[in-house]
Amino acid sequence: MKVRKAVIPVAGLGTRFLPATKAIPKEMLTIVDRPTIQYIVEEVVASGIDQIIFVTSEGKSAIENHFDYNFHLDAVLKEKNKTILGEELNNISNLIDIVSVRQKKPLGLGHAIWTARNVIGDEPFMVLLGDDMVLSKVPCAKQLLDLFDEVGESIVAIQRVPMEETSQYGIIEGEKTDREKTYKVKRMVEKPAPGTTDSDMAIIGRYILMPEIFDILDTTTPGHGGEIQLTDALLALTRRRAMYAQEFEGTRFDAGDKMGYLKAIIAYGLRHPALGKQLRAHLKEVVATL
Ligand code: UTP
Repeated sequence: MKVRKAVIPVAGLGTRFLPATKAIPKEMLTIVDRPTIQYIVEEVVASGIDQIIFVTSEGKSAIENHFDYNFHLDAVLKEKNKTILGEELNNISNLIDIVSVRQKKPLGLGHAIWTARNVIGDEPFMVLLGDDMVLSKVPCAKQLLDLFDEVGESIVAIQRVPMEETSQYGIIEGEKTDREKTYKVKRMVEKPAPGTTDSDMAIIGRYILMPEIFDILDTTTPGHGGEIQLTDALLALTRRRAMYAQEFEGTRFDAGDKMGYLKAIIAYGLRHPALGKQLRAHLKEVVATL
């Protein structure tokens, strides 16, 4: 079994980032010189996946346009002899095969994934949240795919979070396996009330799922926040077959949150080959003077 397809849900409302996201999808906010969603698409490409399925909604067409060929812009850039820029733009539209499905109402992440069922069919697939960025040596998606090659079962990427923050995440409780930083999932709960779990293992926006998840989502009722929660369906999936959790190597940024976004800009800026050195010097100066 090979994972060939990746679902990237981008149909959320982005209320945490208002007013910036009133007319612009949060996935189109820029980190250094490209929208956040481009980093995620590049991670998918670097991991060897063949196709991306965007789950979109009203007002998100800028995302589809960003990965499309822009005939007019291409012609203008050629006319002005800006061929390198033109090539870069065309490269974006040639990165990977992309299709879109539409989530008509923002009924929750579980519902967004369910919307892609007909395009996925009966095969395991990857999910990457459109606002979760991971800066790592080996792409985070590739790290999960390597584990999938060994276990052939569903996988969630996890990171340790401070106990006082567990109520902001889906939390798993698991049993350590022989493989480094890998756990067999025993229990999971979406945004547990403080004091109701001993685990600090939080699910972040990277998953590999077996197609049975769609049967489960067919009948998953709204949970936390009145939304159809992926975590509830994942818990049901653990009762049918094994599921693993992997602490990935890298740093994750929630770019859908204002502070997470600022941290991402700094981290990606510092890593940028042309701008990093200058930014580092500038940050030192700013910290010393402000
Ligand atoms: P978030 O929890 O970040 O929700 O969704 P949101 O609506 O995008 O943003 P806030 O919380 O209002 O600021 C996690 C991921 O699930 C997608 C989002 O696009 C994001 O990638 N999602 C969420 C959907 O595609 N559809 C939904 O109904 C809900």
